Amino acid sequence: MSIRKAIYDRQAIRDYAAQKVESRDLDEILDAGQAAPVGMGEYTKYHLTLLTDTDIISRIESDNVSTPYYGAPAVIIVSAQKDGAFVGTLESVSAGAIVENMALTATDLGLANCVIMGALGPLSKDTQLLADMKIPQNFVPVISLAVGYPNEKQATPEKRRHAIETNKI
Ligand SMILES: Cc1cc2nc3c(=O)[nH]c(=O)nc-3n(C[C@H](O)[C@H](O)[C@H](O)COP(=O)(O)O)c2cc1C
Repeated sequence: MSIRKAIYDRQAIRDYAAQKVESRDLDEILDAGQAAPVGMGEYTKYHLTLLTDTDIISRIESDNVSTPYYGAPAVIIVSAQKDGAFVGTLESVSAGAIVENMALTATDLGLANCVIMGALGPLSKDTQLLADMKIPQNFVPVISLAVGYPNEKQATPEKRRHAIETNKI
C-alpha cells in the first residue's frame, strides 16, 4: 500500500472483533512508532506499552473513562516523561507523531485502529495500574491506539473527507 493510500484509508474504527492480532503485525506497528520524529530527537522521553492482556485493557476501561477501547484485542499506549507534574507540549505533539505512524502502519497491514485519548485521563492517576502496566515512574500515558479487526467490514472513507480551514498566501 502506498503511504498516501494508507493516509486516506485510515479511519477511526469503534467496534472490534475478538480475533487476536498477530504478534509480528504488532511488532511492525511498534517499529513504525520508533521511526517517528520527536522533538529534539529525545527518544528517551517516550515509552511504548503494548497491551494484549484483555484484563488490563478492561481495568483501564473500568476506571470510568470517557471513551473505551471498543473491544479491541490490542492497545498501544504512548507515554511521555513528565516535566514537573505535567507532560509538556513538545512531548504531547511528539507522542501524536508516534501514534500516527503506528495508525498508518496498522492501516497498511489491513488492521482496524483508532487513536484514543479518552481512556487515559483516569489511568494517569491509577498508580497501581500504571505499575502493573510497567510504565516507568515519572512517565504518564499521553495517547493510545486501539488495534484489531473490525466487527463489520468498513467502507473505504472518501478521500479528503475532513475540512480543516486552510489559507494560502
Ligand atoms: C488526539 C486524538 C484523540 C482522540 N481520542 C479519541 C477517543 O478518546 N475516543 C475515540 O473514540 N476517538 C478518539 N479519537 C479519534 C477521532 O475522534 C477521529 O480521528 C476523528 O473523529 C476523525 O475521524 P477519522 O479518524 O475516522 O478520520 C482521537 C483522535 C485524536 C487525534
